Amino acid sequence: MSPPASEASVSARVSAPLGRRACEVARNVPSDGYRIFSAIDREGPEPAAGQFYMLATEERWGSSDGRPNLARAFSVAGCERDREGLRLDFLVQDVGPGTGRLCALEPGERIWIHGPLGRPFSPPAELNSGAAGAILVGGGIGVAPLALWRRRLLAAGTPARVLLGFRDRDNAGGLELFDCSEIRLASEDGHRGHTGYVTDLLAVLLEGDDAASAAVYACGPPAMLEAVRQMCAAAGARSELAMEAPMACGFGACFGCAVPRADGAGYMRLCVDGPVVRGDEVETALVAGSGH
Ligand SMILES: Cc1cc2nc3c(=O)[nH]c(=O)nc-3n(C[C@H](O)[C@H](O)[C@H](O)COP(=O)(O)OP(=O)(O)OC[C@H]3O[C@@H](n4cnc5c(N)ncnc54)[C@H](O)[C@@H]3O)c2cc1C
Ligand code: FES
Repeated sequence: MSPPASEASVSARVSAPLGRRACEVARNVPSDGYRIFSAIDREGPEPAAGQFYMLATEERWGSSDGRPNLARAFSVAGCERDREGLRLDFLVQDVGPGTGRLCALEPGERIWIHGPLGRPFSPPAELNSGAAGAILVGGGIGVAPLALWRRRLLAAGTPARVLLGFRDRDNAGGLELFDCSEIRLASEDGHRGHTGYVTDLLAVLLEGDDAASAAVYACGPPAMLEAVRQMCAAAGARSELAMEAPMACGFGACFGCAVPRADGAGYMRLCVDGPVVRGDEVETALVAGSGH
């Protein structure tokens, strides 16, 4: 059976239409400490894996004195076209007022979305011409963009090994978005898989493989991303990191998401030059103000 059109290709950056669109929430379900909610986008283009949306709710988005919040950035974790439009899935961790409100959304409510935004993951052959497949490394809420990336790679016939790590059983959601059983798991509290860090699993793969032919894709907390970046650099493996920074606009205007370039040539804005960057493009993945 051929894959649905929405999963048929490993695609390049998709540009967002100007302005925000109102979308209806189709579901909001718990997932091991996180929430998965879906919204129907009737007008927007299909996102590429690694891209993100700026989200806000139509109602009650702000403090009780009426002061509105800025929209918040979220990776797209799943995407499927049906008769109603494009169903976009998001995996959300409640860490503050914006995520708290999104986690409480009821089906039928509306949210404002702007996107898809930013630079997506590159196909393994583009990241590393010798790559036979991909290694996906996710930590915590950072598993979100890897779920869509895994589906896109699968649809393109590209082998992918998936390594996911979680802190504890209250921060371990999103596995159902992967739609595959071949996932190696790690948890710091030992409740599932290897007891320890997901980077322990990556170390084994990099030792066992010809690291020079590896294409590693990672998303997770800054300390995990920095460990992946350094491990890949030391092993001679190519990597792409889906990074986070505080984002006020999401489209290049505020410079709030600027991080230093590795070559010393100034800064890049993670919302337009990322959020997916090559490991050797950044000085460090330890971005101030990011990570939960
Ligand atoms: C490109 C991108 C993709 C993201 N994808 C997801 C996702 O798929 N799921 C998800 O749950 N979260 C994701 N985030 C993080 C999410 O945007 C923040 O958790 C959110 O903005 C917090 O808003 P708040 O009002 O709930 O909390 P706030 O009061 O704004 O912050 C609460 C806590 O979260 C931290 N925080 C705030 N903003 C960010 C940020 N942009 N990145 C990291 N930490 C932040 C703060 O340091 C603070 O500790 C993503 C961020 C970026 C930049
Ligand atoms: S979030 Fe405003 S420039 Fe990146």
